[in-house]
Amino acid sequence: MKIKILVKVFLVCLIALNSVAQKSNITPVVDQTHPDMHWWQEAKFGMFIHWGVYSVPGRGEWLMYQEHVPIKEYINLANLFNPKDFNPKEWVAKAKEAGMKYVVLTTRHHDGFCLFDSKVSDFTAPKTAAKRDFVKEFADACHSAGMRMGFYYSLVDWHYPGVLPQGYPVAPATMKILADQAHAQVRELLTNYGTVDILWYDGMSPNDPEGWHSKELLAMARKLQPNMIINDRSGIPADFGTPENSVTAQSRPWESCFCMNRTWGYAKYDRNYKPVHELLRLLASCASQKGNFLLNVSPDGDGTIPVEQAEILSNIGKWMKVNGKAIYGAGPSPVIAANLGMATMVGDKVYLLIQRWPGSTVPLAWIGSKLKSACLLATGQYARIEQLGDRVWLHDLPQYPPDPWLTVIELTFEGEPKPSEPAYN
Ligand code: GLC
Repeated sequence: MKIKILVKVFLVCLIALNSVAQKSNITPVVDQTHPDMHWWQEAKFGMFIHWGVYSVPGRGEWLMYQEHVPIKEYINLANLFNPKDFNPKEWVAKAKEAGMKYVVLTTRHHDGFCLFDSKVSDFTAPKTAAKRDFVKEFADACHSAGMRMGFYYSLVDWHYPGVLPQGYPVAPATMKILADQAHAQVRELLTNYGTVDILWYDGMSPNDPEGWHSKELLAMARKLQPNMIINDRSGIPADFGTPENSVTAQSRPWESCFCMNRTWGYAKYDRNYKPVHELLRLLASCASQKGNFLLNVSPDGDGTIPVEQAEILSNIGKWMKVNGKAIYGAGPSPVIAANLGMATMVGDKVYLLIQRWPGSTVPLAWIGSKLKSACLLATGQYARIEQLGDRVWLHDLPQYPPDPWLTVIELTFEGEPKPSEPAYN
C-alpha cells in the first residue's frame, strides 16, 4: 500500500515538473535588453532602400509572387542584374542632403536574392552576373561618410521550393532549412561588414517564432552587435515597432516606414508620388508623437535613384536645412495648436508646423505660460505678441504662408511651456 502511494506521489511530481518545463518552453519571448536608442530617437528621419534583382524588370519587389514566376525563370533575373551605375556613396550623399540620419538597405528581400556574399546560398550578387558584394560597398560608403547603417533582412525565401504560397504552414523539414539559412546569413551580415546600427527584419512567414528560433536569433544578434537596435518583425518585440504606410504612434520606440509612391521596389509605371508637403506632414506627424520616419527610395536595375525621387529628397533637404530643428530630437508638445496643424517640442522650445496658415495674425489658445518670442523659421522674422489670459495672437506675419510646403514658427516661453489649467481646478 505504502509503495503504491509513494509511486503515485512520484508520478504526480513528474507530471507537474513536466508541465512546468513545457510552460517555460512556450513562454512568450520577451526581450528586455534594449541597447541605447538615444541616437535613433534623436535622428528621427532615415532612408529605406529597396533594391534587388526585381529592380531590373521594374514591377515591384513582389513580382515573383504576384506574377507567380517559377523559380527557374526568376533566377534568370540574376543574370541581368549587373548594375553599372551602383554608387552607394551617391545614395548616402542623397540621404544626407535630405537630412536623413540613417540608411536601411534590403540586403535580401522575400525572393531570397542576397546582395551580399553568403556561404549558404548561390543566389547572391557575388556569385551571379554582377560578381560584386553590394553590401560591402554599401557598408564602406556608410562608414566612410559617418552615416548610420541598417540592414533589412527578409526571413522568408520564396525561391526555396515548398514555401509559396505564403500564409500556409511549411513542412517541418523546409522550416528547418529556412531557419538554418536565416541564422547563418544573419550571422554573416553581422560579422562581415563592421558596425551595423540597425537590424530590420521582415517576412516572418510562416508566422512561427519557434520555427524560426527567433529567440536564439535575437541572442546571436545581441552578441555580435551589442549596440545595434532591432525591429519587431522576427516575432519578438525587440527595440522598436514598425507601422507600415501609416503613422500609428506606439507607447514604445516606433518608426513608420513609407513608400514615396505606392511601391517599395522600383516600379517604372508607378508615378503616384506623394507631394513634398504631404511627406513633410508625415515626417512632422511622426516627430510630434516621438516616432521616426523611414522614407523609401527604389533605385532601378542600374542602381540609379529615379529623378522624381531624387528631386523629392532634395526638396525635403531644403526644408530640413531651415526647419530641421523642429524635427531632430522632437517629441510631443504640451502646448498644441489644432487650429493650425501640428506641434513638436525640442528642449524647451515649441515648434508649430502650420498646415492651415490663417493670415497675418496667427491665433493660439489654451496657453498656460508667458510667451517670450515667436520666430518664423523660413524668414527669421519675429511676430508681435499679444497675450490675454490663455489666448495669444501672433501679429504682423505674412498674409500667405512663407514656406511653400510647411511653415514653422518657433515659440520660446518664459519657463516651461504649459497648457492652461482647466477652470475647475
Ligand atoms: C512588407 C512587404 C515588403 C516591404 C516591407 C516594408 O512586409 O512584404 O515588400 O519590404 O513590408 O516594410
